[in-house]
Amino acid sequence: MATILLGVTGSIAAYKACELTRLFVKGGHDVHVIMTQAATRFVSPLTFRTISRNPVSVDMFDEPEEWVPGHIALAERGDVLVVAPCTANVTAKLAHGLADDMLTATALATKAPLVIAPAMNTGMWEHPATQANLATLAARGAALIDADTGDLACGVCGKGRMADPQKIFETSLRLLKLL
Ligand SMILES: Cc1cc2nc3c(=O)[nH]c(=O)nc-3n(C[C@H](O)[C@H](O)[C@H](O)COP(=O)(O)O)c2cc1C
Repeated sequence: MATILLGVTGSIAAYKACELTRLFVKGGHDVHVIMTQAATRFVSPLTFRTISRNPVSVDMFDEPEEWVPGHIALAERGDVLVVAPCTANVTAKLAHGLADDMLTATALATKAPLVIAPAMNTGMWEHPATQANLATLAARGAALIDADTGDLACGVCGKGRMADPQKIFETSLRLLKLL
């Protein structure tokens, strides 16, 4: 059984992270969901709390149950950090080492391998800034799960759809040598 830190960011694809959570839980893994504030506009923390059977972290300044700050405790517990969906914004923050929320602070503090499943509009995906950020993360050893091409929530057809939850699940377990 692995401890999975699942970062969920402010994309319409956040609903697919519910299915990803379910797959990990069904596989017997301990899932701790960390949401950005924007992610909570798309899916309620209550949904992830219920599916993961664990508390959901959103606010870095919430009073932790132990004296250790929540992001440090999670960073030390995780066997892998999976960010799915990963917005253009969080991709940029991860590439540059920013740590201004629970998810990015945990990402900076953890030694666990990083899996990123980007989801965004085609324009954001193709922007040289995003491509440079993804290349930086890949060069640093992150496992990037390429976005799919298809109908996007913004009404256009193009590249930027988050990969299938099953693919993200399998990639994460393979990285942990559990598959
Ligand atoms: C309906 C809607 C859908 C969005 N979908 C995406 C998306 O798929 N990918 C993305 O990078 N940003 C998307 N955004 C913009 C992000 O929510 C915005 O950049 C936000 O600041 C991201 O915050 P976060 O990265 O901290 O989660 C969307 C915004 C709205 C209103």
